[in-house]
Amino acid sequence: MSQKLLVTGASGQLGQRVLHHLLNTIGVQPADIVATTRKPESLAALAARGVSVRAANFDDAQSLEQAFAGVDRLLLVSTDALDRPGLRLTQHRNAVNAAKKAGVNHVVYTSMPNPETSLVLFAPDHAGTEAALAASSLPGWTVLRNHWYFENLFQSLPSVLAAGGQWFSAAGDGKLANISRDDLARAAAVVLAGSAGGKNVYTLSGEEALTTAEQAKAIGASIGRNIAVIPVPVEGLVQGMMGAGLPEPIARLFASFDANTAAGQVGNVTEDYRRITGLAPQTFAEWLAANKPALAG
Ligand SMILES: NC(=O)c1ccc[n+]([C@@H]2O[C@H](COP(=O)([O-])OP(=O)(O)OC[C@H]3O[C@@H](n4cnc5c(N)ncnc54)[C@H](OP(=O)(O)O)[C@@H]3O)[C@@H](O)[C@H]2O)c1
Repeated sequence: MSQKLLVTGASGQLGQRVLHHLLNTIGVQPADIVATTRKPESLAALAARGVSVRAANFDDAQSLEQAFAGVDRLLLVSTDALDRPGLRLTQHRNAVNAAKKAGVNHVVYTSMPNPETSLVLFAPDHAGTEAALAASSLPGWTVLRNHWYFENLFQSLPSVLAAGGQWFSAAGDGKLANISRDDLARAAAVVLAGSAGGKNVYTLSGEEALTTAEQAKAIGASIGRNIAVIPVPVEGLVQGMMGAGLPEPIARLFASFDANTAAGQVGNVTEDYRRITGLAPQTFAEWLAANKPALAG
C-alpha cells in the first residue's frame, strides 16, 4: 500500500530538490506527495503535476495539524530564521507537536553536525529540535545532520573576490567536510520515501574534508583567481565584519562558524550518505567544475 509523504518548506532551495528527487529520481507518484509551504501559489507547477499543495506556516501552530492530516512520513525542513535564536526552535517544536497530533508515523528532520557541542550560535535550535523529537511519542524519526552546503560559497565568495582575493578566516587548520545541497536533498528523499522506522541519526558529509586554505586553492584554480587566506582571530573577524556594515549579531553568528571549524566540529567524514543512497557524493572538484561560471561572477 502506498504511503503519503509530506515535505515542508517545499518552495525552498532544499525542498525543491527533495521534490525533484521524490518525483524524478525515485519515481514516487505525485498523488502520494503533499508539499507544504507558506506560499502555495509558488508551487502551481507541482500542483498541476498532481502533487497536493497545502499551506503551512510553523508560526501558526493551530493550522499545522490540519496541514499534516493523512500523512504517513513527513520531512521537516529546518526554517531559515538563523539570526533569531529560539524562534526556530519554537517553530520546529510546533511542527513536531502537530505531526504527533496528526498521526504521522515518521518525521525526518534536517539538522547540523554535532549540534550539542557546536560553537555555531544557532546550534541550540537544532539540538533543541532533536531533543523535542526524542521526547515526543512519535513512533519513529530520523535526524539528518547535514554538513554545510558547497552552495554557501555563493554567499561568501563575492566578498572575498571584492577584497582582491583576500579570505579573512579564523578557522585555522580546521577542516570542513562540506557536501552539495542536491546530494543532501537526494538523501532526504530516499529516507522519506523509504520504510525505515525507529529512531535514527545520520551525519551527511562529503567524501573529503578540506581546510579553508585548501578550499581557497581549489576555488582559485577553478576560476582563475588568486585567493589567499588571511588568518585573523575570531574577535578580529567580528570587528572586520562590523566595520563592513554587518550588524553585530550577524557578524558574531558568521564568526562562530569559523570558531566551530577551528574546534574540529565539521571535519568528520562519514559513510552515511553512501549508506543511505548507495552512491558517492559529488566531490568539491566536481562541484566547482559544474559551477565555475556562477562562482566567477
Ligand atoms: N547546511 C547548510 O549549509 C545550510 C545552509 C543554509 C540553510 N540551511 C538550513 O537548511 C534549511 C533549508 O535550506 P535551503 O537552502 O532550502 O534554505 P532556503 O531556500 O532559504 O529555504 C528556507 C526554508 O525555510 C522554510 N521556512 C521559513 N520560515 C518558515 C515558517 N515560518 N514555516 C515553515 N517553513 C518556513 C521555507 O519554506 P517556504 O518558503 O516554502 O514556506 C524554506 O523551505 C534552511 O532553512 C536552514 O535551516 C543549511
